[in-house]
Amino acid sequence: MVHRGGMHPAEPARRRGSPRGLIRALRDQGIQDDRVIGAFGAVARERFVPADAAERAYLDEPIGIPHGQVTTQPSLIARMVEALRLSGGERVLEVGTGLGYQTAILAALAGQVVSVERFGDLADWARANLDGAGIHGVTVVIGDGTLGVPEHAPYQAIVVAAASLEVPAPLAEQLADGGRLVHPVGPGGREVVTAFHKRSGRLVAEARLTGAYFVPLVGAHGTLEGDVDEQRTAQPPTPRVARCVTSRRWPTRWRVE
Ligand SMILES: C[S@@+](CC[C@H](N)C(=O)[O-])C[C@H]1O[C@@H](n2cnc3c(N)ncnc32)[C@H](O)[C@@H]1O
Repeated sequence: MVHRGGMHPAEPARRRGSPRGLIRALRDQGIQDDRVIGAFGAVARERFVPADAAERAYLDEPIGIPHGQVTTQPSLIARMVEALRLSGGERVLEVGTGLGYQTAILAALAGQVVSVERFGDLADWARANLDGAGIHGVTVVIGDGTLGVPEHAPYQAIVVAAASLEVPAPLAEQLADGGRLVHPVGPGGREVVTAFHKRSGRLVAEARLTGAYFVPLVGAHGTLEGDVDEQRTAQPPTPRVARCVTSRRWPTRWRVE
């Protein structure tokens, strides 16, 4: 028998998500802020992933993008963005644009978004995705995000989408007093996503949000480029560096919910 336009009954069904299913997944993961949930409802993730991954766009999963990078798992983005406590008028800096999905979520929640990406082709792709989705008021810059983007500083919130052992000093400087910064603290592949608050000129760790696997933050105040290349040649490619996921198996001492 020939099956036209459908899957052969013997083939295992491939998992598909739906926008409503994604919202349910965020609530299941403990996301409570209705504005944040609303932003995920308003942004079509399928516009921000490679075409061959569109059918997985509404699963709560990271999706691979060029250069061995990923577009972050939605519930992890939600957790990080929720911790910024945006109310609508802020200027936000995002470090690590990828294909622009988190950028679009931030644009729905803040007044102005500046996003910096080290790979020019990803930045161009993100700009096209944002334009295609009718999202304006976003500036995507190509460069080393560990230096921040001083020409638009100060920022009331900063979110970093890649890991380093400490918060790069320029980011701490460019954060306005009273502002919040979320950063995956770790070597790249095993992080504690940490929320900081700047008070009287000092960054104070406020909460450890979750354990996660992030790609390394590559730049002058992060992992040096040569070190990343050495890592790549020393190890076969594994999901360790290619995925950003919150893990149910993460040791409890790393988890502060
Ligand atoms: C987890 S991925 C993309 C996350 C993205 N925000 C999203 O919505 O999925 C992290 C990104 O950070 C970028 N990156 C790493 N180090 C960077 C740096 N120093 N400056 C700017 N971007 C950087 C990578 O190229 C990659 O695109």
